[in-house]
Amino acid sequence: MRYSIPITLSLTILISSSPVYAAGISKGAMLSNSCSACHGTDGKSPGAIPSINGKSARFINQALTEFRSGYRASTVMGRHAKGYTDKEIKLIADYFANLK
Ligand code: HEC
Repeated sequence: MRYSIPITLSLTILISSSPVYAAGISKGAMLSNSCSACHGTDGKSPGAIPSINGKSARFINQALTEFRSGYRASTVMGRHAKGYTDKEIKLIADYFANLK
């Protein structure tokens, strides 16, 4: 019983610091990685797909939510956006909006 407090403490630290954060990569950056395949590195599209670099968090958040619900017409974004929760969409939108 003497060790119960330190053990509880270190377990809490282990659980709350996932390897992703330990490597210095935010969850928003991880989630946004999958967007680069089509929208280009950092959302700077080299082709016909619209760039999302520099778009506001509000714009990206609204676009993804509307793609997901089907309110906004799309070819691929509707299917892609269905994979994200509201919280994940917010992290992704904040990530792109804050890119330099
Ligand atoms: C498979 C390719 C593909 C992937 C992956 C993809 N997109 Fe898209 N995105 C598109 C295409 C194509 C469009 C144009 C709408 C449509 O036809 O679906 C688009 C449109 C958008 C738009 C609207 C842009 C505008 O100016 O109207 C936003 C915002 C967007 N994508 C964000 C994202 C984010 C954020 C991710 C990652 C979570 C992502 N996309 C992943 C292909 C993709």
